[in-house]
Amino acid sequence: MSTGVLEDARRERWREKCGPGISMRKELAEAMETRPQEGRKGPPPRDVPPVVGLLLSMALMNALLYLCLDRLFISPRRSTEDPTRCPHGHFRMGPMSNCSPWLSCEQLRTEVRQMKRVGEGAVKRVFLSEWKERKVALSRLTRLEVRDDFLHGLRMLKSLQSEHVVTLLGYCEDDNSILTEYHPLGSLSSLEATLNLSKYRSTNTWQHRLQLALGYVAIIDFLHRSPLGTLVMCDSSDLPKTLSQYLLTANFSIVLNDLDALPLVNRSTGALVKCGHRELRGDFVAPEQLWPYGEDVPFHDDLMPAYDEKIDIWKIPDVSSFLLGHVEGSDMVRFHLFDIHKACKSQTPAERPTAQDVLDTYQKVLNLLRDTATSQTREML
Ligand SMILES: Nc1ncnc2c1ncn2[C@@H]1O[C@H](COP(=O)(O)OP(=O)(O)O)[C@@H](O)[C@H]1O
Ligand SMILES: [Mg+2]
Repeated sequence: MSTGVLEDARRERWREKCGPGISMRKELAEAMETRPQEGRKGPPPRDVPPVVGLLLSMALMNALLYLCLDRLFISPRRSTEDPTRCPHGHFRMGPMSNCSPWLSCEQLRTEVRQMKRVGEGAVKRVFLSEWKERKVALSRLTRLEVRDDFLHGLRMLKSLQSEHVVTLLGYCEDDNSILTEYHPLGSLSSLEATLNLSKYRSTNTWQHRLQLALGYVAIIDFLHRSPLGTLVMCDSSDLPKTLSQYLLTANFSIVLNDLDALPLVNRSTGALVKCGHRELRGDFVAPEQLWPYGEDVPFHDDLMPAYDEKIDIWKIPDVSSFLLGHVEGSDMVRFHLFDIHKACKSQTPAERPTAQDVLDTYQKVLNLLRDTATSQTREML
């Protein structure tokens, strides 16, 4: 834990100094530009020879660059971006060797055959469908009142295509339809039922289940450091609802499927978020999401304080605990995750770890337990 705390402090330092990685140069440039103005507000500047000034700015620039590059290099997500992914606006799925452009309205209308309904939520009705003899998922808007959420989800789906998000195959705003890759194992809600099928029983081990928890936290980390900024997974007011937003892929990884409620936290402008306009209850949601003024004051959305992405961190232990389930070894994994999960449940949001910290700890625990299991097997032989 102590190295985690050190890493945390280091990360906070460069987060303050660098901001999100993609705006690093801009912020550095701004930092350099604002110095003369700051000088104007303070006492009259002393005359500094131009050469000394230049050397000082170069030293400052180097120090900032050092801190920021440090950040870029320890971030595993940035260094492992998949070069085999298709360019924006294209997709590849299953055995396809080439990337295809997203299907148009015309193609969706003529080439996709809708079959049976496989799921439904508040915003979308999802149908198993067929395109060029391949199974695909066609999502249709359920009612016009939630069209804004549907379109927000589509925008996010287009912008966040990656290993962590379901593959977009096409869309048609005029028809309120979205075509995505079909995942026959369905959402995480049916994980237990799936793992109980004789076909998958050999996969029902603590190793695979911890790997799933790692995948889940990797998605939260991806959202919190996304190319669009810090996004909060709002569509998660209870455990079953949270689980229904993620799909289990055939090779037992997790992808985010429902991106309809991903508001943006903007630290520099102080813009925080609220998940919906209704009162939330229960202990699955973070304490700062609950009405703070007691039973005597009726809930009023305007009075409800906003919050940040740390609400997602609060929920990690509950989701992970579900993913770990109750198989041989799950409790041993829970024991090793006890400290980090306790930190996730800090009442004060700022004291909770970042998703990246949680991910690092999960990875260390997985490595440690795998090594232990391997050496135990060797000893037995
Ligand atoms: N690509 C897919 N493959 C398989 N099942 C899916 C797929 N997309 C959605 N589903 C099923 O449909 C359900 C509802 O989808 P979701 O996008 O969460 O709708 P809503 O936005 O209305 O909540 C999911 O929980 C899942 O069971
Ligand atoms: Mg949903």
